[in-house]
Amino acid sequence: MSVVEACLRAEFAQLELSGIGKVVSRGFGDPDVLPLWVGEGDVATPWPIRKAAIEALEAGETFYDIPVGRRELVTALQAYLERLYGIELDPARLVVPGSTMLALNVAVDMVLEKGDHVVVVTPHWPNVTSVMRLAGAEVTHVRQEARAGRWHLDLAKLEQAIRPGVTKALYVNSPCNPTGWIMPAADVRRVLDLCRERRVMVFADEVYHRNVFAGDVAPSFLEVAAPDDPVISINGFSKAWAMTGWRLGWLVAPAGYRTQLAEFSTVLNTGATSFAQFGGIAALGDAGEAIVRDLRESYRQGFEIVRHRLGGHPKIELREPEGAFYAFPKLRGLDDSLAFCLKLLEEEKVGTAPGYTFGPGNAAHIRLCFAMSHDKLDEALVRLVRFVDRHL
Ligand SMILES: Cc1ncc(COP(=O)(O)O)c(C=O)c1O
Repeated sequence: MSVVEACLRAEFAQLELSGIGKVVSRGFGDPDVLPLWVGEGDVATPWPIRKAAIEALEAGETFYDIPVGRRELVTALQAYLERLYGIELDPARLVVPGSTMLALNVAVDMVLEKGDHVVVVTPHWPNVTSVMRLAGAEVTHVRQEARAGRWHLDLAKLEQAIRPGVTKALYVNSPCNPTGWIMPAADVRRVLDLCRERRVMVFADEVYHRNVFAGDVAPSFLEVAAPDDPVISINGFSKAWAMTGWRLGWLVAPAGYRTQLAEFSTVLNTGATSFAQFGGIAALGDAGEAIVRDLRESYRQGFEIVRHRLGGHPKIELREPEGAFYAFPKLRGLDDSLAFCLKLLEEEKVGTAPGYTFGPGNAAHIRLCFAMSHDKLDEALVRLVRFVDRHL
């Protein structure tokens, strides 16, 4: 073993590219590829948000800011969350450390250490369990099941997976990437009760909170949790306001950890990019709600295109997402989703994500993001169907 190998943490050395990374790294930058592989559309962030950041740059906003987030941004977030959920929120619980992904890292680092046990509701985005495994935690999956064309989570199975006195945390992503499942409000309450009783921290990944196809916002743990409840809500600007490249997200932690959160934000990234935060403030301002609604309508139409092209195909089992902006169809006769996605990329220049990377039981699935502009999405789906007809 070399000196370098001997010095590295095993958890770091064992990191592998996710299935999404394996496909993207083959085709990234190829102008002929129609990319449905990652979680974003192809239209730039709406102008009022970009304008705010441009103006901030022009005004010379290029300095360090407060590591937990610029005061106006934290205040705007507090007002936004209070309005959205009808709650009162102490801004001392709010942190904007950088991206949503960074917020997830903060949450995991707050709670998990080597040998800890965490339950993850799955299918799940692969980066989530990579962060947990990096921390040295042991992951147990509880899988949503498809029934009558929709996804459901059996809470009895969740309860069984939580080991009394052992399990430290539970990760729930609702609306879910990749299935589009939304945890019903009654289940949010039951899960919170369970976690209170079992002394388990909930990581509530709510980054798709506004990407819902009925209503205006998905049920949130923030609506039911008291400030001292074991809930860390993780959220960000990427999905509701089409701001993926801004790397701007937030978390709401239980009360009482202001100092630790401030210091942790400092050592991680010394706060989010200063001029990007002005875009966040604009997103939460007057223009923001119309942007959220317009994007949501566009994504809803995107799913109608998916339904039109894939629904009813004899080899494709399509389930209806309630939120987010992904389809996660099961393909009859598929057993190697990675090989399928790589070949699809090579032959038809369509980028998709292989199901296996979203946790056990998904090797016959692929994920495709339907946030893409509609003509390109349609063309990509025509190519996908042609490929399925040829190979499955
Ligand atoms: C479930 C989930 N959580 C967190 C993130 C991270 O979001 P961001 O790109 O804003 O860091 C994503 C991004 O796709 C996601 O799908």
